[in-house]
Amino acid sequence: MASKNYNVVAFKVVLHCICLAVANSSDLSYPAVFNFGDSNSDTGDLAAGLGFQLIQPYGQSYFNASSTGRFCWLIIVVDAMHMPFLNAYMDSIGLPNFQKGCNFAAAGSTILAATAASLCPFSFGIQVSQFIRFKARVLELLAAGQKYKKYVPAEDYFNKGLYMLDIGQNDLAGAFYSKTLDQKLYDQGARNFWIHNTGPLGCLAQNIAKFGVDSSKLDEQGCVSSHNQAAKTFNLQLQALCTKLHGQYPDANVTYVDIFTIKSNLISNYSNYGN
Ligand SMILES: *[C@@H]1O[C@H](CO)[C@@H](O)[C@H](O)[C@H]1NC(C)=O
Ligand SMILES: *[C@@H]1O[C@H](CO)[C@@H](O)[C@H](O)[C@H]1NC(C)=O
Ligand SMILES: *[C@@H]1O[C@H](CO)[C@@H](O)[C@H](O)[C@H]1NC(C)=O
Repeated sequence: MASKNYNVVAFKVVLHCICLAVANSSDLSYPAVFNFGDSNSDTGDLAAGLGFQLIQPYGQSYFNASSTGRFCWLIIVVDAMHMPFLNAYMDSIGLPNFQKGCNFAAAGSTILAATAASLCPFSFGIQVSQFIRFKARVLELLAAGQKYKKYVPAEDYFNKGLYMLDIGQNDLAGAFYSKTLDQKLYDQGARNFWIHNTGPLGCLAQNIAKFGVDSSKLDEQGCVSSHNQAAKTFNLQLQALCTKLHGQYPDANVTYVDIFTIKSNLISNYSNYGN
């Protein structure tokens, strides 16, 4: 139970901190947001894509259902940017509007290609392919006349929009991140990137329950040391990638968002942030 509470507290405060970070950020005048990722930012994609029904309360109190993404940070971020809810690419119900962007994130997704055993078939590469199709289709519709304008992004939004990436916690495959990003999104005209690093995986309740039974495996925060070490190694690769991209593409803005530090602080110092 204790470990479950950890997660609840951490989650609430993460939203708060990200929200503050967004609010303090000087220039957030992006016309659209294109998001790629996993359960951290899924707004209904996996459920729509695989056709399963979510049970209430959609993960708000039960972490076994948190992958519904019903309370993901993305909702708070777009809200702070005064943007509408970001519709999931695969959710066709209820007249989705993609004018301000689209969310390709699917819970359980990985950077490496999915296999038959994967929870989620919509890996990072697939999400980027979906984006490429999305963009091509939008350009076709715009060329077809005015009537679709209020449902899809304007052509220049693909260049001026913000591309957010929050993926890797399900496989920590940093080396494969780069190719998809450089070759595909940049080539499609993406220039503004927020790359989220991965959080302290060793502090996830499910990992503490499974790997932390032997308390010698836990660090001073009560989190599984080996998992946090793996997350840190991945994050070093990701940070190096951001530096590389910066050098390689001087006309792009690449922001490395240190989620690990934000979440670690919240978990250690949760009492500073209410409950
Ligand atoms: C999730 O947990 C809740 C409460 O512990 C339980 O009632 C529910 O059946 C669980 N759902 C799944 C899908 O395991
Ligand atoms: C990068 O961001 C800054 C500030 O947000 C902006 O002034 C600049 O035009 C951006 N550069 C590109 C290439 O988008
Ligand atoms: C917790 O808060 C203290 C005091 O502000 C700070 O020094 C420490 O770094 C925080 N812990 C983490 C893990 O960030």
